[in-house]
Amino acid sequence: ADVITFKAGNGTTITFPHKAHQQALKNCKVCHEKGPGKIEGFGKEWAHKNCKGCHADKGAGPTKCGECHKK
Ligand code: HEM
Ligand code: HEM
Ligand code: HEM
Repeated sequence: ADVITFKAGNGTTITFPHKAHQQALKNCKVCHEKGPGKIEGFGKEWAHKNCKGCHADKGAGPTKCGECHKK
């Protein structure tokens, strides 16, 4: 899918532009250590470490709660 959406338990939705990340990062293994498909252990901890962490490191992409978690 070009865009993947996640429904978080706090009633918010997170939109993840998957294709844009594939193109920008070029390396699937950044996120898919074990190969393409569902990510084992994906959830709050994974996302806050990897999604938010990468955006903070690169100074690009959302790092504030409400920038990812939308009503
Ligand atoms: C999951 C809060 C920042 C992306 C969660 C959950 C909470 C939460 C409570 C778990 C909800 C549940 O039980 O299902 C917060 C707060 C933030 C923050 C308070 C600010 C300090 C962010 C940011 C991003 C992000 C900046 C994106 C870069 C996600 C994702 C999930 C998640 C992808 C997993 C959803 C799933 O399991 O499908 N967050 N978040 N969050 N958060 Fe955040
Ligand atoms: C899900 C492939 C790069 C993060 C998926 C899925 C596939 C896939 C086949 C299953 C869902 C779907 O039908 O789309 C790939 C390939 C990549 C790549 C071939 C490289 C060209 C990335 C990158 C990231 C990422 C760089 C992170 C920035 C995710 C996430 C999911 C996912 C978070 C959802 C995982 C889940 O629900 O458990 N990917 N991906 N992918 N991908 Fe990728
Ligand atoms: C941009 C979400 C993981 C690097 C973005 C944007 C969103 C987002 C919503 C803004 C796109 C726009 O402005 O149109 C997420 C979520 C992630 C995730 C929910 C986890 C499932 C990552 C990871 C990296 C990364 C792991 C790096 C290793 C970037 C960069 C940008 C960006 C460099 C800005 C450039 C661009 O828009 O392509 N991300 N991201 N992201 N993200 Fe992520």
